[in-house]
Amino acid sequence: MTDTNKSATLSIGDKTYDLPILSPSAGPDVVDIRKLYGQADVFTYDPGFTSTASCDSSITYIDGEAGVLLHRGYPIDQLAGKSHFLEVCYLLLYGELPTAAQLEDFEKRVTNHTMVHEQMHRFFTGFRRDAHPMAVMTGVVGAMSAFYHDSTDISDPWHREVASIRLIAKMPTIAAMAYKYSIGQPFVYPRNDLDYASNFLRMCFSVPCEEYHVDPILARAMDRIFTLHADHEQNASTSTVRLASSSGANPFACIAAGIACLWGPSHGGANQACLEMLKEIGTPDRIPEFIARAKDKNDPFRLMGFGHRVYKNFDPRATVMKQSADEVLDLLGVENNPILATAKELEKQALADPYFAEKKLFPNVDFYSGIILEAMGFPTSMFTPIFALSRTVGWISQWKEMIEDPQMKIGRPRQLYTGPTQRDYVDVENR
Ligand code: SDX
Repeated sequence: MTDTNKSATLSIGDKTYDLPILSPSAGPDVVDIRKLYGQADVFTYDPGFTSTASCDSSITYIDGEAGVLLHRGYPIDQLAGKSHFLEVCYLLLYGELPTAAQLEDFEKRVTNHTMVHEQMHRFFTGFRRDAHPMAVMTGVVGAMSAFYHDSTDISDPWHREVASIRLIAKMPTIAAMAYKYSIGQPFVYPRNDLDYASNFLRMCFSVPCEEYHVDPILARAMDRIFTLHADHEQNASTSTVRLASSSGANPFACIAAGIACLWGPSHGGANQACLEMLKEIGTPDRIPEFIARAKDKNDPFRLMGFGHRVYKNFDPRATVMKQSADEVLDLLGVENNPILATAKELEKQALADPYFAEKKLFPNVDFYSGIILEAMGFPTSMFTPIFALSRTVGWISQWKEMIEDPQMKIGRPRQLYTGPTQRDYVDVENR
């Protein structure tokens, strides 16, 4: 961020205020209002933060109009096509693509942290079998701060490093354990001879009674889903992690807060909501009825998996995800699956409808990821845990960047107060 000699002038009554303008390396300039309240005794007002830059960051850049997503400057389509998830984790965490030796060391460190403390197994038995896996993950990840005391001191760079590696390494194990617990199957331990995505698939789908072989095309698609969900600028769950971390809370508690926020159907819960919507639609002939509902102002129904706060032409992740969806559907021979047939027809009709073009609504990353995960055999309840698993590296990278920023201070927004002005207490007999 560079101080420019430009400034914005704000006039309130007979007074004017000069607000400095700061220029980014890419994207819109920002008007620095940090001193505004002290100078003018006014707040700015921006519910939902649609016009607010909450921080400066060098990790991810999004251009919503152009459909651009860069991680440390590298386009998402190049990373999804040429890199793999753990290499992208290294890039997000440390800012540069690793050398071969750095990558080997990083992958070994992650691999050696994939097991969870054996006593954590008991946490799972405290949940009902039909508990939503996101409830389990929120609880178990928060509880990690009760097990890994040697990596909770955020002022210690080594603690921060170990906590980062532990979270990236253990999230697949915890997500797989939540799944196994929900279907009454035994937990499967991670294997050090498998890559990250293959390990996760095996922990989810293998049973002790027989060998499980990971299909390399499914492993590649799984790895690509992890990469495409890794980070996404200051979205709701990342902003939650940043705000929680600004108080100095430990990383495990802050990531648990991020998981809780991601669960919402407007955010990470959209992939589950999308598949449930497709199941409700049932067959392609009912699509016009649901499209009409999505366009009806009096109907709260929205097409889940469509639209985005920032992307207003297309979601570059969805473009790549769509390619993976076609590969997986062909491999699994499920192109005749009625849900997936409905999805393809919905995509076709929505994209051809002028309303969606005018509102700039198109399939987002969650539309296609849900289709792939359904085809792979995951229940819809596991879709958001997989998103959380992928986004952990983004949350941790943004957390690390904020903690290491000497300007960091506790986040404390103000408000536009609309309640009663001061009044005196009235005894109950006089009310
Ligand atoms: C993610 O922020 C991120 O980066 C998130 C994410 C990430 O990686 O972290 O990309 C992941 O959360 C992707 C988005 C997943 N959510 C969904 O698919 C849920 C369905 N989508 C909508 O809820 C909605 O599109 C949002 C929440 C994603 C974005 O909403 P906005 O930007 O606040 O847009 P809006 O609600 O102001 O809608 C603008 C107009 C409205 O119509 P008008 O009031 O102007 O007449 O578009 C309409 C909305 O009614 N609209 C939709 C719609 N989404 C918006 N109409 C029908 N179906 C939809 N899905």
